[in-house]
Amino acid sequence: MKNRSLNNQTVLITGASSGIGFATAIYFDNIGIKVYAGVRKESDGERLKEHEINNITPVILDVCDYPSIQRAFDLIKKKEEGTIFNLINNAGLSLNGPLELMDQNDIQKLIDVNVTGLLTVTRTFLPLIREKMGRLVNISSGHGLVAVPDKSVYAASKFAVQAVSESLRVELMPFGVFVSNIVVGKINTNVLGKIMAERQKMTEQTNYEVYELYRTQIEYFDREVKNLPSIEASEAAEMISRALTDEKPKMQYLVGPGAKKMKILALFPPKMRGKMLYKAIFK
Ligand SMILES: NC(=O)c1ccc[n+]([C@@H]2O[C@H](COP(=O)([O-])OP(=O)(O)OC[C@H]3O[C@@H](n4cnc5c(N)ncnc54)[C@H](OP(=O)(O)O)[C@@H]3O)[C@@H](O)[C@H]2O)c1
Repeated sequence: MKNRSLNNQTVLITGASSGIGFATAIYFDNIGIKVYAGVRKESDGERLKEHEINNITPVILDVCDYPSIQRAFDLIKKKEEGTIFNLINNAGLSLNGPLELMDQNDIQKLIDVNVTGLLTVTRTFLPLIREKMGRLVNISSGHGLVAVPDKSVYAASKFAVQAVSESLRVELMPFGVFVSNIVVGKINTNVLGKIMAERQKMTEQTNYEVYELYRTQIEYFDREVKNLPSIEASEAAEMISRALTDEKPKMQYLVGPGAKKMKILALFPPKMRGKMLYKAIFK
């Protein structure tokens, strides 16, 4: 695959304080793309600067706080007039568990970050992306391809990300803007610890009898989270970077073995898939 020139390229990565966003910021900086790293705490920006080789500029950006998005836009626009501006929508939360056991505020927060936040950041930065034919890259998940039990809220958000990518792919075609969707499988990041912590919170907060109704599936998916093969965030960063560096970027990049497994599962008719899942969990 031929590579696009990296001259005069800038990227903004949301959620760059840890995990995939952090690793991707470091990766782009290493290959010479100027990075704006979206963080919510100054200390996270300072940690990124410790790894800087070329040019990483931390920007305070909470995807649920519109004024912070607008401030980041104003700052980047002022500094980057004339450069090719690319956006990676990476910030995201995870939430696993049976819907009945979930906390209402957690559901709202996840949709705010993973869906509304992504739309708002994209809408705000589109004029800059469009100006010089930059690119838009959305970080989705295998759960955006197949919605399994225990992931109703998270899958809803990542199906939404798939939908946004698919819609904008054609909407932005007249301007020469490519849109890629990154389907991420299990990556070794903080998210895995956060999932287990949420499980613990759910167990403690739920009425014992209701919890017992869902115990089999909860335990099944706990084992899945632990046993699925994973890759490191740095490997994921390398794959994600291709959406910016490939001369002709793909509509979809699969990252990690978990993503490939979900892509295969998605090929089965939904009724058959449901039966397979039911059998795997309950029999
Ligand atoms: N790891 C996996 O196995 C996996 C699998 C599939 C998809 N993904 C996707 O990959 C992306 C990155 O996840 P990760 O694994 O790297 O998790 P992570 O280490 O927990 O990183 C999540 C990032 O999102 C940021 N964030 C959360 N709420 C935010 C908000 N309101 N505004 C701005 N930033 C916010 C966090 O910032 P703070 O530190 O400030 O909270 C953090 O930088 C997510 O979209 C996730 O859904 C991950």
